[in-house]
Amino acid sequence: MLASRRTGATVDGFQESSRTVKEKSQAGTDAKHIAVIPGDGIGQEVTAEAIKVLRVVGRAAGRELEFVALDWGADRYLRDGVTLPEGAVEMLRREFDAILFGALGDPRVPSNQHAADILLGLRFKLDLYVNARPVELLDALLTPLRDRTERDIRFIVIRENTEGLYAGVGGFFKKGTPDEVAVQEDINTRKGVERIIRYAFEYARRHGLRRVCMSDKSNALAYGHDLWQRVFAQLRKEYAEVESRHLYIDTMAMELVRDPGQFDVIVTCNLFGDILSDLGAQLAGGLGLAPSGNINPEAVSLFEPVHGSAPNIAGKNLANPLGAVLAGAMMFDHLGWTAEAAAIREAVRAAVRQKHTTADLGGTLGTHEAGDWLANYLAKQGVSSPGARP
Ligand code: NAD
Ligand code: IPM
Ligand code: MN
Repeated sequence: MLASRRTGATVDGFQESSRTVKEKSQAGTDAKHIAVIPGDGIGQEVTAEAIKVLRVVGRAAGRELEFVALDWGADRYLRDGVTLPEGAVEMLRREFDAILFGALGDPRVPSNQHAADILLGLRFKLDLYVNARPVELLDALLTPLRDRTERDIRFIVIRENTEGLYAGVGGFFKKGTPDEVAVQEDINTRKGVERIIRYAFEYARRHGLRRVCMSDKSNALAYGHDLWQRVFAQLRKEYAEVESRHLYIDTMAMELVRDPGQFDVIVTCNLFGDILSDLGAQLAGGLGLAPSGNINPEAVSLFEPVHGSAPNIAGKNLANPLGAVLAGAMMFDHLGWTAEAAAIREAVRAAVRQKHTTADLGGTLGTHEAGDWLANYLAKQGVSSPGARP
């Protein structure tokens, strides 16, 4: 049982506030309460740096921010068998404005059960139906593509985040025998497909983007993705000012590599979005730089880097913290702190261009030092036009 969020652990790089937590509705000011789930492996390291940076920006803008660490992850699971504690979802909804998440995945938990319960559990139970994964090349030197510049690689993958092959519907028959059958159902609901495609069109409209591309595999998946086709055909009529098109997912993967400049907004199902977002991340310099937002536009949302727990580099001060930092910027945007978010993005751009980065981006800094550089830069620059109130 989760009595209160006071059960959260202290994590390197930040501490829980000692004051009693107010309920969101009683807060009275525009103070924001952020639940932090650093998780496993490099999730711990990059989250600590992200918080360091967010604190500096908050201070520079005169914002009140409180971070509360929750120790959900492999250590806790191995210690007491708890993955997502009872009451966790209600507590997050009640007490927090947003969630900052590191990564989950640990070689000691080969089933990945804790990640399924915590990360996928929160996506489903908080109904975070949008997984927004922006891809932006910050320096032409970083792309593995020849002759491509910042102008060519700037798009967003809008991934459906609550159904598809991730819904967990299926089972085994005669498990472990030579006659074994394993079934994994692909769940596509009209409501789910419609709201994610609509979100993509609305995103384009809101950001003045011209092009939306829906990608599916309706030539082979004749039921589930036929629904995507029909919903897309219906919705595109409502957004006549947006250029909308469709590509099968195999062609989409190819086109993203051949000419990424043709895309602004890509909308696709859960599994395809997972894969395309790693491909996109690599086009812009690698997983270490890629942020994401697991969003329900009307409710508490969760922000995380796209990468995982990277056991191969965990605990070595090698991980790039910029994906986590940019996830923090997405969180600020979501909270209405847009000037603060813009300041963070500008600092990340400066770090990348001036090579004050970790080795994956060609720099010589460790995780901590890359975080320190950003924090110092932002402390000096300040936030140009902080909103007094969102
Ligand atoms: P990964 O993203 O953890 O690592 C893939 C490769 O990218 C590795 O070589 C790693 O060293 C490198 N990398 C990743 N992030 C980096 C960073 N910030 N800086 C520098 N290099 C970085 O993916 P994986 O190895 O397939 O998975 C490892 C574990 O993470 C698995 O348990 C997997 O299930 C889990 N995972 C979790 C999430 C999540 O929590 N959202 C996402 C992806 C994978
Ligand atoms: C991601 C990850 C997760 C996913 C895993 C850890 C279940 O790869 O966030 O991209 O597939 O969604
Ligand atoms: Mn992934």
